[in-house]
Amino acid sequence: MPHFLDLEPLGPEAVRKIVDEAHRRKAARAGRPKGGADDDAPLDGHVLASIFEKTSTRTRLSFEMAMRQLGGSAITMATGDMQIGIGETIEDTARVLSRFVDVVQLRTDRHDKLLRLAEKADVPVINGLTDDSHPCQILADVMTVEERRGAPVETAVWAWLGDGNNVCQSLIEAAGLFGFTLRLSVPAAYDPDPAYAAAAEARGGKIDVVRNPLEAAHGADVVVTDTWVSMGDKDRNRRLVALSPYQVTEEVMAAAAPDATFLHCLPAHRGEEVVDAVIDGPNSAVFDEAENRVHAQKAILLWCLGKL
Ligand code: CP
Ligand code: NVA
Repeated sequence: MPHFLDLEPLGPEAVRKIVDEAHRRKAARAGRPKGGADDDAPLDGHVLASIFEKTSTRTRLSFEMAMRQLGGSAITMATGDMQIGIGETIEDTARVLSRFVDVVQLRTDRHDKLLRLAEKADVPVINGLTDDSHPCQILADVMTVEERRGAPVETAVWAWLGDGNNVCQSLIEAAGLFGFTLRLSVPAAYDPDPAYAAAAEARGGKIDVVRNPLEAAHGADVVVTDTWVSMGDKDRNRRLVALSPYQVTEEVMAAAAPDATFLHCLPAHRGEEVVDAVIDGPNSAVFDEAENRVHAQKAILLWCLGKL
């Protein structure tokens, strides 16, 4: 079953194919009304169930719009409104969903919940974010960097500043698969799981731990960060203290390459992980990055449904 649970198990060819398809579909529908279907409407008659155990703006919107543009439709539900919220098992929910829809997206907390759903589902399951990873986001990020640079991502040097969280862990996987250099500037208490870097390096990616943020940003082509307090994190005050030296400031961007791209998956906490002058500045691509979620998701859905 072609589940989209994490980037690493997909391998380099599949992720390249997905990003190429995302670029191609974005270019092909330039100027079209946002809700109009692509010419080929390849998912005509197909339905996505999109399930959220945590809040979302971009993931929810981009999955719904992706299905609409591909000629299919989406049903979005919050687990709090479902029987799963009051005790129906994940396994039974997986079997039921498989009888109704063609593909399922889940945003949840514990990654094992996603794996249990995928294990029992007879249709592809997509990871819309867990506490461990956010693979859909990272394919949109790769796409955004390629658009900005007008070149494949392979030669870009990325600097991640801040928390070694779910988004960071998927980025490490991408570094291995696409073969780019990633500098991790994270306080040791919030390091990502070292297994991600080990797997990326086994693939030939270059993951460098550079604790000094200015050093990490030096000459980088991409500077990327995320919230210091992810959904479900309980230690907000401790995090704000430990992570404050990793704020993306104008000084950090000045250390990066002159045409460096600033990325943030959003939502941003302005004045915490990034200052206004950077997120609203000329190097920021955060709203292209948000838009690219829809293009990337379309390609992911097509890959899952055997149409790529
Ligand atoms: N970046 C992202 O996944 O945003 P949402 O939480 O709004 O879906
Ligand atoms: N790391 C953030 C990403 C939100 C899209 C979180 O998990 O809350």
